[in-house]
Amino acid sequence: MRTTRVRSVALAAATALLLGGLAAAPAATADSGKKPGASATLHDLARAQGRYFGSAVDNPELDDTPYADLLGTEFGQTTPGNGMKWYATEPQRGVFDFTAGDEIVDYARANGLKVRGHTLLWHSQLPDWLTSGTWSADELRSILKNHITTEVKHYRGKVFAWDVANEIMNEDGTYRENIFYKTLGPGYVADALRWARAADPKVKLYLNDYNVEGTGAKSDAYYTLIKQLKADRVPIDGFGMQAHLALQYGFPQQMRQNIKRFAGLGVDVAITELDIRMLLPADATELAQQADWYGQVTDACLAVKRCVGITLWGYSDRHSWIPAVFDGEGAALPWDENLQHKPAYDAIRKALTD
Ligand code: G3I
Repeated sequence: MRTTRVRSVALAAATALLLGGLAAAPAATADSGKKPGASATLHDLARAQGRYFGSAVDNPELDDTPYADLLGTEFGQTTPGNGMKWYATEPQRGVFDFTAGDEIVDYARANGLKVRGHTLLWHSQLPDWLTSGTWSADELRSILKNHITTEVKHYRGKVFAWDVANEIMNEDGTYRENIFYKTLGPGYVADALRWARAADPKVKLYLNDYNVEGTGAKSDAYYTLIKQLKADRVPIDGFGMQAHLALQYGFPQQMRQNIKRFAGLGVDVAITELDIRMLLPADATELAQQADWYGQVTDACLAVKRCVGITLWGYSDRHSWIPAVFDGEGAALPWDENLQHKPAYDAIRKALTD
């Protein structure tokens, strides 16, 4: 059913192009030398500033036609929420299944969105065969190398960036004791980056984590690590700040300066999983504060040239990971459950326009 939908989207896009209809006409951007007009999408506005504006999507959401249609028109980039993770792509040792990731790549191509690969290595959502096995260092190194090499080669030319290693640090700035760290030691990070580079010389290679948007022990640890990787000539192109924010915990301190210091290391920065949750029920005051924060995040990215784009972790409260994980919290996205704009949408628009 989903394959049919992708095909029909592709067909519709091709038809629109053939007809030379308005739907296929690019909005005025910096490329055309004109300012985007009132009908410009968030991505049009971001593109006029040399950035992208995107949203993650999980495979089942592609069956929600209004949702998928809006995703395809409003945004210029997407990230698979789950479809490229290890449990999905190598469900048995050495047996690869790229169905879910491919479906999103096909959808993205049909709608003109670029794709961020997420993620090659993470402590979570690993397949059972991997977590329940007992591996020597040599065996695990070979498993990791094969996984990274096979997946990166499969998506060569189809994704512009990879979250190579996801969430590898603890809050205090020490390495997370995931299966790779415990068996291989901290050198697995450099190895993973080198294997990814060998499999695709052009794709941008990122480290990605949460609670690193502001300054603090965790973001300091990444600053030190990336500086060292650069000094050792390990391929590293970017730092992803997930930005899963919550009103009750305060805005990340010195976000703009923090982005700037990473850019100063000679890497790109991307806001990769933005959402801003709150205690439910949401009231007007909270929604106004949320809007202000969305504007501040957008401003912080736009203030630093090497901050290349912003990705929402889903764009509407209709599909969000938050209520299932944080009891009594939600309303985290700029579109509500009925796909209507919330104040946050206007705040992002204003930040992208000013
Ligand atoms: O696939 C099973 C399905 O077979 C089963 O019927 C269903 C019943 O609950 O669960 C399905 O698995 C779920 C999976 O998403 C796929 O939908 C898991 O329960 C659920 O926990 C999992 O949640 C994902 C979460 O990562 C896992 O930690 C979210 O969708 C995904 O948005 C979220 O994304 C992460 C990023 O990758 C990294 N940064 C944090 C971010 C939010 O947690």
